[in-house]
Amino acid sequence: MSKIILLQIQSFSQKISQILVPQSELNLQKTKTILSRYKYVFEGNFITWMVSSFLFAQSLEAKQNSFENIWVEVIQNHPGLLHDFANPASINIETQLLDISISKIRNQISQQQSVYSITLMALLESSSAIFVPYLERLVISLGSKDLQYSQIHGVADIKHADQFVESLNAEKAYFTDEKFNDQINLAFENALELLESIFVLSEENF
Ligand SMILES: [Fe+2]
Repeated sequence: MSKIILLQIQSFSQKISQILVPQSELNLQKTKTILSRYKYVFEGNFITWMVSSFLFAQSLEAKQNSFENIWVEVIQNHPGLLHDFANPASINIETQLLDISISKIRNQISQQQSVYSITLMALLESSSAIFVPYLERLVISLGSKDLQYSQIHGVADIKHADQFVESLNAEKAYFTDEKFNDQINLAFENALELLESIFVLSEENF
């Protein structure tokens, strides 16, 4: 079971690597747009989403894994590091699509399904190994030297992603196969839409 989930998560990361616009095709406006969107989505939401994986976890193992991850987020002040990392790129952005994808996740989280919240975390933590180094290159291209956020994320998040995969395995016992798979699929769909709303640039906006 765990292998199937791992393969699904790897396929998600592959999808994310395909949607990233090559840096050579980004002008200043596009670079700042991506960074501003990323900050808009994650600065105020990520910890709440992670906390939901703790609140709704049924198994002790999943509770412990989420607790450890929340602890690190808070004591290392990840929202503050993200703010400083992306702030030099701040511009006014159109937020309609971002708000739609954020709302879908918030509404689904309020349904209190651990598998949804934990899958969301596993997907975001694992694909960040791809999109955080990309964001770091964008920030460097703007001349910024504040890379604390990108240096404690990215590759380091693979361990966190593995913990959330372990948590999913532990949660399996509490759900029917159908319910379990439905929640995983929904988290995939919503996480993909969220990251697309950040990283995909439609030409009419530029
Ligand atoms: Fe973080």
